[in-house]
Amino acid sequence: MHILGVDIGGSGIKGAIVDTKTGELVSERYRLETPKPATPKAIAATLAQMVAHFNWTGPIGCGFPAAIQHGVARTAANISSSFIGTNVDKLFSEATDCPCHCLNDADAAGMAEMNFGEGKGQTGVVLLITIGTGLGTALFSEGKLLPNTELGHLYLHDGKKAEHYASDAVRKAEGLGWNRWGKRFNSYLTLMEGLFWPDLIILGGGSSKKFTKFSKQITVETTVKPAAFLNQAGIVGAAMYAQLKSTQGEG
Ligand code: BGC
Repeated sequence: MHILGVDIGGSGIKGAIVDTKTGELVSERYRLETPKPATPKAIAATLAQMVAHFNWTGPIGCGFPAAIQHGVARTAANISSSFIGTNVDKLFSEATDCPCHCLNDADAAGMAEMNFGEGKGQTGVVLLITIGTGLGTALFSEGKLLPNTELGHLYLHDGKKAEHYASDAVRKAEGLGWNRWGKRFNSYLTLMEGLFWPDLIILGGGSSKKFTKFSKQITVETTVKPAAFLNQAGIVGAAMYAQLKSTQGEG
């Protein structure tokens, strides 16, 4: 089945048509800037532009940078706070005239990696971390997702939230070199390891493409691998989620 997968991020909105059977992109990837401020109305309009670009009329899967409970955004760290309490499934379906199914962006990336990427066949506990504007997390046990874990919001020993210390946005804003940032990120991984004892940690998001630049700083015992889909996991996983929802016949 072909589905339009969209990854709504703090800086860009990326979409492609995905073959959900194979996890492959069957169109080129199209990117639009995330509107500023990233209000519900502005993001819905940008999504409608994306749909028009692909001339799309079918179901849409959307990875969204917030905790999503039954189609409703419950948090808004890097988008307008007016998203909190918004039924994004409904908003985006109305704006695009297509059935839209939203889930957390890191959960989407995790679904793609567990089905087609580095997590395929992996038993035990897998933690996927997306490194971008924020730090997103997806936690799996025996292949089953525990949704909306939001572990980028854990407080570190100095009272700072992890994503305000070790995200890619912080690396850029503070002009940190890969070694200095890598040490910060490693301290976050050490915390994750001590709390969840994962069998595998997969890194997604923009920085996963640069893994070799900071891998020397990673000292955790857990195996750490960049996502097989690199930055495209979110698009693929969002499409897979929409396919699941469409076949379940849920709104
Ligand atoms: C949000 C998460 C999201 C992550 C990555 C965080 O700020 O709270 O929901 O997964 O950023 O976009």
